[in-house]
Amino acid sequence: MLDLKNVPILVTGGTGFIGSRLVPSLATAGAQVTVLSRDPARASRQFGAGIHCVRHPSEAKEGPPRVVVNLAGAGIADWPWTAARRKELLDSRIAYTDRLRDSLSDTPPEVLVNASAVGYYGVSESRTFTEEDGPGEGFAAELCRDWEGSAEAFSALGTRVTCVRIGLVLGPGGLLGRMKLPFSLGLGGRIGHGRQWMSWVHLDDVVGIFERSITDPELAGAVNATAPTPVTNAEFTRALGQVLNRPTLFPVPAFLLRSLLGQMADELLLAGAHVSPGRAVAAAFPFRHSELEGALRDALGRTAKSG
Ligand SMILES: NC(=O)c1ccc[n+]([C@@H]2O[C@H](COP(=O)([O-])OP(=O)(O)OC[C@H]3O[C@@H](n4cnc5c(N)ncnc54)[C@H](OP(=O)(O)O)[C@@H]3O)[C@@H](O)[C@H]2O)c1
Repeated sequence: MLDLKNVPILVTGGTGFIGSRLVPSLATAGAQVTVLSRDPARASRQFGAGIHCVRHPSEAKEGPPRVVVNLAGAGIADWPWTAARRKELLDSRIAYTDRLRDSLSDTPPEVLVNASAVGYYGVSESRTFTEEDGPGEGFAAELCRDWEGSAEAFSALGTRVTCVRIGLVLGPGGLLGRMKLPFSLGLGGRIGHGRQWMSWVHLDDVVGIFERSITDPELAGAVNATAPTPVTNAEFTRALGQVLNRPTLFPVPAFLLRSLLGQMADELLLAGAHVSPGRAVAAAFPFRHSELEGALRDALGRTAKSG
C-alpha cells in the first residue's frame, strides 16, 4: 500500500464536482496536491492557499508527480451531442490524456488513476455488468473505451493504471443539483417507462474508491465505482420524491426527450446499465452508502423523519 503522506499528486480537472471533494481529501491525508486547470487563478481562488494550481504539469512546485488523477473532460450531459460537441467531448478526454502522457513521458508517474464511466458497458435492461465485461455500443461507450485506451498507454512508461468506471454520482450538485428544482416543485416524475437502470454511487464512496485505487496496487485495471444496489429509474424517482417529501406524478415522455436531445436521450436518460462493483467488493472496500434513500438524504442534507 502506498502511503499518501508527502506524495506529489497531480489532479487534472480537480475543480469539478468530484475533484472539489477529492482534492481536499487527498491534501488532508498528507499528499502534496497540484491541480491542473485551464484557469489556475480561478482554481486557486476555489481551493485557497494550501493547493498549488497550474496550467502545465511542468509548473508543479514539487516537481514531477508520483501519482496522476485524471478527471478532466467536458461535461457529457451539459449539452446535446451535436457533431461539434462530440468532438469536444472526445478531444477534452482522449487528445488531452495523450498530451498529458507526452508531457510526463520523461519522468512518468508511478500511478495513474483515470476517470471513466459506467457508460463503457453500453445499456441493457436485463444484463448485470462487472469489470470483466467488454465495451458496449454507442457514443458514450466508445468515448469511455477510447479514453481508457489513452490512459492504458501510460503502462508502456511503467505506470500502474487504474480506470475508475464511475456511476451516477450523488452529492451536493451534479445530477441531484439538476433534479432538485423540478422535484422540489412537485414536477418530478419517472423518465419514459422508468425501467432503465440507474447505477448510482455516493460522492463519498467515489472519493474513497479513487483514494484506494491510488494506494492499493491490487486495484490496477478497471474498477467500477457504483453502489452495490443499483435501482430502476422508477425506484430512484420514488426515493427522491420521498426524501424531498414531494409527489412524483409527472413522467417525462420519451418522445419529448428524444426530440430535444436525440441519441443523448437514448443513451443517458431513457436507458441505463445495471453495474456491479465486483472488484471494490472483492477488495472489501467499506461503502459508506449502500442504500439509496440514506445516500439521497445525506447528499441533499435531509434527515429522516422520526416516528
Ligand atoms: N459526476 C458524475 O456523475 C460522473 C459519472 C461518470 C463519469 N464521470 C467523469 O468523471 C470526471 C470528473 O467528473 P466531474 O463530475 O467532477 O466533472 P466536472 O464537474 O464536469 O469537472 C470536470 C473538470 O474538467 C475540466 N474541463 C471541463 N471542460 C474541459 C475541456 N473542454 N477541456 C479540458 N478540461 C475541461 C474542468 O476543470 P478546469 O475548468 O479547472 O480546467 C472541470 O472542472 C469527468 O471526466 C466525468 O466524465 C463523472
